[in-house]
Amino acid sequence: MHKQIATLFETQFEKDVYKGLTDYPKHLSSKYFYDAKGDKLFQDIMHMPEYYLTDCEFEILDEYKQEITDLFTLGNPNFNLIELGAGDGKKTKILLKHLSEKNIDFTYQPIDISQNVLNQLENSLQEELLDVQVKTQQGTYFEALERINSNNGTKKVILFLGSNIGNLLHQQAIEFLQRVQKLMHEDDLFFVGFDQKKDPQTILDAYNDKSGITEAFNKNLLTRINNEMEADFNLDEFLHWEVYDPETGIAKSYLVSKKEQSVWIEKLRLKIEFRAWETIHTEISQKYDDRTVQWLAEKSGLQIENVFVDSKGYYKNYVFKKRC
Ligand code: AVJ
Repeated sequence: MHKQIATLFETQFEKDVYKGLTDYPKHLSSKYFYDAKGDKLFQDIMHMPEYYLTDCEFEILDEYKQEITDLFTLGNPNFNLIELGAGDGKKTKILLKHLSEKNIDFTYQPIDISQNVLNQLENSLQEELLDVQVKTQQGTYFEALERINSNNGTKKVILFLGSNIGNLLHQQAIEFLQRVQKLMHEDDLFFVGFDQKKDPQTILDAYNDKSGITEAFNKNLLTRINNEMEADFNLDEFLHWEVYDPETGIAKSYLVSKKEQSVWIEKLRLKIEFRAWETIHTEISQKYDDRTVQWLAEKSGLQIENVFVDSKGYYKNYVFKKRC
């Protein structure tokens, strides 16, 4: 059955939708939130008062830009500043601006899977920060990191901001960190944002805003399946549900079917049945504490060099080195 249908898949997205909606319990990956509309919705999320993560990281980068600069230039003053999943670079620009004002010798190399995102970022940097040398890197993180490594031996400072690591379960995060670690040299730094455990209500509110933006973001997955696979999900028949477990630190998102219904996905020639109140799990946003980050670092062959925290203690940026 699975083998036969395999020939029907044109994309990884189709394959993953098939797998996720025929599994029990159902699931879809949050990595598929981000088409043009999803990108826009995530921008809106970052502007919501409830979504504290962006402001906290912004505060850290602004408050500690000189300390961060000192750390990045320590020993070896020139480096490639590599960003994994660049996005619109709003937060990174604080650092870029400061490094440029201090005449630091660096090249900014944002990596993104989307050439479109990279072009937009490059254009906005042309306008705002003409002095910064930019070399965009299209591809997956690891393709691009390998390419950068093989081109030269310049020190790498790798940025992974926004608590994007939180979409990974711990085991996946360890595998991710290990892969980056393997591509790091002795002097390289890895600067990573980790959202912290805090009042569970604060976390729940960040992923469950009254204005319904997060709901729309979550449901954009269904819209994408409707548009790209000719499916007939009725978005009104699903609700967005968020839970936060303060023990594991996992915020978990679901789409819940409000009634018994079936959905037809033409491109997959697949009928999906939902029982009333059946769930589709869509995202985890892991929250951390020092002990957990220390453990992740140890498991990944990294050591923590430095930690920066915002004034509320909501969010931390850790600086890792390869453990030698
Ligand atoms: C982009 C993965 C960091 O998990 O906080 C925001 C995505 N999901 N609201 C997060 C998201 C719902 C975000 N990350």
